[in-house]
Amino acid sequence: MNTLKDKRILITGASSGIGKALACSLAAKGADLILSSRNLEKLRIVSDTIKSDPATKHEPYIVSCDMSKTDEIKNLFNECTRNQGKIDILINNAGIGVYGESDLTTMEDHKSIMEVNYFGAVQCMQEVLPQMMKRKEGMIVNICSVAALHGVPYLGAYGASKAALVALSQSMRAELSKFGISLLVVYPGYTETDFFTNEKKVGNAFRPKRPYTPVQKVANEIIRSIENNKKELVLTLEGKALAITRAFLPGLVRKVMKKMAYNLTV
Ligand SMILES: NC(=O)c1ccc[n+]([C@@H]2O[C@H](COP(=O)([O-])OP(=O)(O)OC[C@H]3O[C@@H](n4cnc5c(N)ncnc54)[C@H](OP(=O)(O)O)[C@@H]3O)[C@@H](O)[C@H]2O)c1
Repeated sequence: MNTLKDKRILITGASSGIGKALACSLAAKGADLILSSRNLEKLRIVSDTIKSDPATKHEPYIVSCDMSKTDEIKNLFNECTRNQGKIDILINNAGIGVYGESDLTTMEDHKSIMEVNYFGAVQCMQEVLPQMMKRKEGMIVNICSVAALHGVPYLGAYGASKAALVALSQSMRAELSKFGISLLVVYPGYTETDFFTNEKKVGNAFRPKRPYTPVQKVANEIIRSIENNKKELVLTLEGKALAITRAFLPGLVRKVMKKMAYNLTV
């Protein structure tokens, strides 16, 4: 089991939801955190929460960065290297959503979701890899989605951005193994966060009814997978069922998706 004590971990999208829960739990395990997102005020609140815990060993370092801006990502890594040195683990967590009919989703929406969910993560990996390759150690964690296992109605643009990240992660995992760098792909299912208030809505489709998985449970499972050097983590019962049935019963999956498409519109 990998110990996370004193490990320097960069989390993108650390100002809320899964990123914030990961930050608080990793800090409690003695990790040395770099927290990033666009909103410095929100990052400060996360950092203050962590610092108020008497068990905290390292004060988090916070950097504002918009994942759709290449110069800001470059600056994030320059600043990290200058002020913090090496990064042991990169968690590509920042993400946005678009929910609704794929044909009504504008080209601007298709492009902006790829900018953040895919190209932002790609650039972060390219920025961090030279130092990890030099040291011949490191870990990358890409937060993808159950919607990347198989296309899900009304999550076309979102699922495409996450599926692109899954495919790249699988290629990179193979390429990076000779450098001692591991890559974990996480497929969360519905998780209770602000994601659904922040996402762009298109058309009339609505989300499946709650309850969704509590965010702390998701963070705990991700951390356990990092500690155990796992390669893939599929969350939620529905996610696990989809991962199995898409291989063995593809016709059933198509039927369920078709029913879902009918049920989630007026
Ligand atoms: N919640 C779910 O059901 C669910 C399911 C599957 C996968 N996921 C994935 O889990 C990850 C975390 O989502 P969440 O549920 O925790 O949602 P969330 O609460 O909305 O958090 C999203 C995070 O991403 C950051 N972010 C958004 N756009 C950004 C940009 N352009 N540049 C930098 N940071 C940006 C936000 O911070 P700022 O606004 O401060 O920039 C925030 O910290 C995402 O990748 C999401 O796709 C979520």
